[in-house]
Amino acid sequence: MNQQFTFDDWLRAHGQRAEKALDSLLDGAATHPARLHEAMRYAAQGGGKRIRPLLVYAAGELGSANQDVLDAAAVAIECIHAYSLVHDDLPCMDDDDLRRGRPTVHKAYDEATALLVGDALQTRAFEVLANAHCDAQVRLAMISALAAASGSRGMAGGQAIDLESVGKKLDLAGLKQMHAMKTGALLSCSVALGGIAAQLNHAQMQCLFNYSEALGLAFQIIDDVLDATADSQTLGKTAGKDAANDKPTYVTLMGLDYAKQAAKELQENAIAGLESFGDKAQALKDLALLVVNRGK
Ligand code: IPE
Ligand code: IPE
Ligand code: MG
Ligand code: MG
Ligand code: MG
Repeated sequence: MNQQFTFDDWLRAHGQRAEKALDSLLDGAATHPARLHEAMRYAAQGGGKRIRPLLVYAAGELGSANQDVLDAAAVAIECIHAYSLVHDDLPCMDDDDLRRGRPTVHKAYDEATALLVGDALQTRAFEVLANAHCDAQVRLAMISALAAASGSRGMAGGQAIDLESVGKKLDLAGLKQMHAMKTGALLSCSVALGGIAAQLNHAQMQCLFNYSEALGLAFQIIDDVLDATADSQTLGKTAGKDAANDKPTYVTLMGLDYAKQAAKELQENAIAGLESFGDKAQALKDLALLVVNRGK
């Protein structure tokens, strides 16, 4: 990374790049059946911080990953994330009307469409990775990582724990595990996809994993803090939803001050783990600060 690096410029350039990649790798809204394709675009575009694509790009730039391959990885992880949000908002899960400042997919369309949007975004993610312009081995490693992070040992498993914990008091270890699975797994996978595309070595991948494990937990803690402290307009989603749905969170279990302090310590640990990469990891470090300081 050169001396002129400024995170604001990096963020703007890579945010635009993620939007462009999504636009070109999703089917056009007029593709038959048009209502489904339009709803898939509605779910994946028009808002979102794009943290996961940004993590893909930042990790990929630690090596010399092919830009098209990073775009494919960025789109794949964002499609899985968007699908997870569409399903998370359904009446049978969190029952939310507002997402990214707009009606949720089942409100703007209908429940069956929302279900299918999730299904189709998920398979599109793997199709995009399978067609990425790189070695078959790299593609296979990316597909395997994304499948593991999305499934019953990752995001979907974490969502199952979340639902079965409604009204219960998890202990701190149980809460950490739920957060690591429902949110941490996809964030770790974002960084791993960048690292795989850049063909980083085992020790470098381990450093990245240590970073993303801390970041993933911090991310969900801050999401819980903001749910309890910010308003719906700022969040673009319904505030106070965790308390209303009687969800165990860092805030309900440990209190607001503990939660904020825990997120700050995790952010410091995440950044400390990147020292061996030197200046090249500046974007990853700044992303950790962005995640934990958002809403302040
Ligand atoms: C929200 O994720 C869901 C969680 C995993 C906490 P984000 O906060 O990244 O949502 P968008 O993509 O910016 O809308
Ligand atoms: C969702 O966690 C994690 C996902 C896998 C989507 P939340 O239920 O806290 O996410 P928000 O607050 O609705 O975005
Ligand atoms: Mg939820
Ligand atoms: Mg939710
Ligand atoms: Mg939340």
